[in-house]
Amino acid sequence: MTDGSSMSKAKDESNMAEASKAGDAEEKETPRFPVGVRTDSKDANGRSVVGSTPEIRIGKYVLVKPIGIGGNGDVYKVCEIGSNKPLILKVPKQTCGAKSVMFENIVMDVIIKKDHKEDRTIGLVRKLDSGLVPNNMKLEKLDKSVEDMFLVMESLPGSILDNLKKAKEVTKGLNKAIDYGIEMLRGVYDLHQLGMIHRDLKPENVGMFEDRSVVIFDMGMVRNFLDQEGRMRKPRTHVGMRGTDEWASYGAEVGGDQGPVDDLWGWFYTMVDNLNGFTDKNAFQAWTPYDGGRFAKDIACIRQFMKSPFFPAQIVLDNCPSSFYRIQSYLRTLGRTDIPDYLYLASLLKDSRIDAKRTMKQHEADHMQFLQELYQKEKLWF
Ligand SMILES: Nc1ncnc2c1ncn2[C@@H]1O[C@H](COP(=O)(O)OP(=O)(O)O)[C@@H](O)[C@H]1O
Ligand SMILES: [Mg+2]
Repeated sequence: MTDGSSMSKAKDESNMAEASKAGDAEEKETPRFPVGVRTDSKDANGRSVVGSTPEIRIGKYVLVKPIGIGGNGDVYKVCEIGSNKPLILKVPKQTCGAKSVMFENIVMDVIIKKDHKEDRTIGLVRKLDSGLVPNNMKLEKLDKSVEDMFLVMESLPGSILDNLKKAKEVTKGLNKAIDYGIEMLRGVYDLHQLGMIHRDLKPENVGMFEDRSVVIFDMGMVRNFLDQEGRMRKPRTHVGMRGTDEWASYGAEVGGDQGPVDDLWGWFYTMVDNLNGFTDKNAFQAWTPYDGGRFAKDIACIRQFMKSPFFPAQIVLDNCPSSFYRIQSYLRTLGRTDIPDYLYLASLLKDSRIDAKRTMKQHEADHMQFLQELYQKEKLWF
């Protein structure tokens, strides 16, 4: 499963989305406003109350507690003054983070724009407010040209995996995972309809509302794939890796310029991870646990092999319905400039829902047993 520590790769300078997410995955960082952040204590009626420590305010928002430290931004649970409704506030943590949050703000403005024919905010996070971080809270800045912005958005406290783990029967969990996959696909589709690709789709960037609907967030690495006339932008020859190694497509991982299909790989890997993860008996995770230290290079080779067309489907798609094989086959037919057939993908997923009457493998992945079975089959069939 995802270890919550994967870091996204540095961002491209050409579109302002590109800011560094460099950093050690294991690094423990101090939240940006640690002193005096309110505690989440409860009163006699069980309601959250403000702790006795001094309040920290940014604009009209009171910081409640830090909830996430990403590569670019520090993320806080906040409440508007006079309200108990939890919201999320993101501030940049360094100069490059400042560019990223500024760009994220632009992207989120596009998402909530009123004149779209359709509501694009069902599967994509909604921005509620933005502003400039007060001067006395700013960090020492290297690049004075970028203002520190803060972003306020809806809170997505739910977790797909936690919800899946609540399923009493495996079949129910499997069907739920497929439904969540379709909801996430809707978010990807909406973003692509706006001419943008996410480039960092992974479990850590997908949340849920209380009402259980799946929502994609972290727009810090979004890029326009269409130009102003709505034509596909020309591919660049030199592109550094953008995204997160484990979850990026093979093409993105080796530094290719990305298109809509690359987001769909992130979506696909996230779905496989969900399917494997909710049984709590982790199957072999083909692309996640890769902090290889001095073996990092070898491990990258294994990971890329798992993403290549020569991947061992029996291992990688071990716990997945058979239509997942068709999904990855279809994705392999798409090039960078192709517009994927999202409805076809949704229909493949729906098929999986119907044929989901089989049982998932509940046992721990046993590689010796797997090799033995393979050996038996070899003897039997060849
Ligand atoms: N709207 C949100 N609702 C709930 N949690 C969030 C929200 N936005 C961010 N987070 C939490 O903060 C973490 C970092 O935020 P993210 O936007 O992904 O920043 P980064 O670009 O630095 O990765 C996320 O992984 C998630 O745990
Ligand atoms: Mg993130």
